[in-house]
Amino acid sequence: MNNKIIKYHTLSPSQKQLLDAAENALCQAYNPYSKFSVGAALLTQNQEIITGANVENAAYGSCICAERAALVHANALGYRKFEAIAIIGRLENSEAHESVGTITSPCGACRQMLFEASQLAEYDLEVMMATGDKSEAVIMTISELLPYGFGPGQLGVDIRAFRT
Ligand code: THU
Repeated sequence: MNNKIIKYHTLSPSQKQLLDAAENALCQAYNPYSKFSVGAALLTQNQEIITGANVENAAYGSCICAERAALVHANALGYRKFEAIAIIGRLENSEAHESVGTITSPCGACRQMLFEASQLAEYDLEVMMATGDKSEAVIMTISELLPYGFGPGQLGVDIRAFRT
């Protein structure tokens, strides 16, 4: 498993651009309950960047994470095939808190939805998970984050007609 910590300044220009877009999206978080802001940025196979932020709800189970918000946003714009996603999370007023040096990794539900996207694109999506201060990131593929993922194959479903 390649879970090496990479310094921001060693990322490629396009990786930096994707992570910067995720950081900008984080400002749109609607998070009155957790005060934890998450931004996600998807890179489509035609090099468009589409973002999402977490949106919470008084009925906690109705909250949606930034990663799934980005996927749904992309779907609404007609994009379903992605190369990469960047994720960054930050707790309000946490500048001096140890959490700024911790990476935000996608929750189980988001891994499952990212896995579906990777099945659709027939591409093992890269997932870049940054620390809150954006100084470092870990890059892994979705199949590393969700080994033996459950997908359309198990159901005998051919999803190729839904590739856009
Ligand atoms: N959250 C995300 O948006 N993405 C993650 O990868 C982890 C968690 C959100 C959900 C909720 O709004 C808040 O962070 C605290 O769990």
